[in-house]
Amino acid sequence: MKKTLNILLVIILFFLIGMTYGIKRDYLSRNSQILPGMVTSVPYNAQDENENFADGKTLQYRKEGQISRELMPLHYQATPEDAKRAGEELFNPVSDTVEGNLERGQAVFTTFCQPCHGTGGLGDGTVVKKGFPAPPSLLAENARKIKDGQMFHIVTYGQGNMPSLASQVSRLDRWKTILYISEVQKKTLTTAK
Ligand code: HEC
Repeated sequence: MKKTLNILLVIILFFLIGMTYGIKRDYLSRNSQILPGMVTSVPYNAQDENENFADGKTLQYRKEGQISRELMPLHYQATPEDAKRAGEELFNPVSDTVEGNLERGQAVFTTFCQPCHGTGGLGDGTVVKKGFPAPPSLLAENARKIKDGQMFHIVTYGQGNMPSLASQVSRLDRWKTILYISEVQKKTLTTAK
């Protein structure tokens, strides 16, 4: 019994050694995939061929005059004149009557503006305490006169030492922040100088 088992094992051993040499593996090709599931994506990849379109490409050129949703082109330059012009032409599309707008504006302010402008917008944020040039108070007379559109321009294009925040804060969020700032300005109208 033991002998037969040993012979069987030797046969299996040689069979396996034979297999190793016999099957010529192509090391450049992938191993076989068991349950490939999500390995191959079902949707078209951007660079894939695509028979659904006349030009056979997945990624399509945009048509002339076509614009992305909610990304109307802004016809402004980063200049003080254009900031003033934006103040005349652009109006805040969000209102405090819709629930959540002010809260969102406050959240964005806390995250993106407060480090420089300070909790109450007085220009005493953490970054300023570490030596960054202090912005003027957002509650001051001058800041109160800034129209919503101009403020949108300032946040979008920057002004003086303030960088543009366009890449961090979406347009809608910028408007909501402006809504929040005007609310704070209104609330403190009587107290702040
Ligand atoms: C890196 C610091 C920094 C951040 C972040 C920042 N600001 Fe400013 N901000 C400044 C400075 C500095 C000025 C003064 C610019 C100048 O020299 O005219 C300023 C000016 C302004 C002004 C004009 C004030 C005035 O009286 O002229 C407004 C409005 C304003 N910021 C809004 C915002 C809002 C809204 C955010 C957040 C979305 C923000 N800022 C984020 C630094 C910052």
